[in-house]
Amino acid sequence: MPVLDRGFIFGDGVYEVIPVYRGAFFRLDEHLARLQNSLDGIRLPNPYTATQWHTLFAELLKRNAPAAQQTVYVQVTRGVAPRDLAFPAVPPTVFAMVQDVASPTAAARARGITAITVADIRWQRCHIKAITLLPNVLMRQQALDAGVQEAILVRDGEALEGVASNLFIVRDGRLITPPKGQHLLPGITRDVVLGLAQDIGLTPNEHAIPLKELQGAEEIWLTSSNKEIQAVTWLDGKQVGNGTPGPWWARMTARYDAFKMTLG
Ligand SMILES: Cc1ncc(COP(=O)(O)O)c(C=O)c1O
Repeated sequence: MPVLDRGFIFGDGVYEVIPVYRGAFFRLDEHLARLQNSLDGIRLPNPYTATQWHTLFAELLKRNAPAAQQTVYVQVTRGVAPRDLAFPAVPPTVFAMVQDVASPTAAARARGITAITVADIRWQRCHIKAITLLPNVLMRQQALDAGVQEAILVRDGEALEGVASNLFIVRDGRLITPPKGQHLLPGITRDVVLGLAQDIGLTPNEHAIPLKELQGAEEIWLTSSNKEIQAVTWLDGKQVGNGTPGPWWARMTARYDAFKMTLG
């Protein structure tokens, strides 16, 4: 890749991470729709049609050894041009790779993860899946430096999402997640989990989560394509529920595992 690629120089690009289970894409059309939204958000024309993306990704998978669980990472940048902030008249750069994913062991899943809340230091367009992830890098490291695994981002007193995941809490039979907007990424896993809530007896509910409500939650989950559904069992040094992944998390994980194997 030329060093003057605007992705390298400015972080001027967007990306997607698409799960592949036993060689089959999961929610590919939804990921392509979000890619389109991200491209629109940075005013970069989509270099390919949906059919062309499908063909490209199928070829990529064919050229790589199959595995039980993989992801396709794809990024589109504003191309290679002399270093100047103004949009250049050059073709975009498309880069895609396939990676094998080691699913967390049953023991790791059963332990859950530890997290702290941190002030969200990102910009005003978090709904764009931008490759510019410096705030996320710093906030994840802040969590690691504090001896925990994850950070939950708080802005204006409301808990929004994880560093690379969406946030859910369970409370009084409701599965609550903040509504979509400019302060969080509209996660594909989030939509699937919300859609499965009623199957396991929870009422899906999109509304803001004030910090106090997060701290009083029966269960806290973080969802993403890479890590699926993780239970947060310790938050800011206090246990969540009884300090182990809760019964609703176990039900949702089982439902999600079944769903991902049957539907693309
Ligand atoms: C900031 C942020 N929120 C949420 C998510 C989860 O999105 P998805 O479920 O589509 O992977 C991600 C994924 O990387 C993310 O980076």
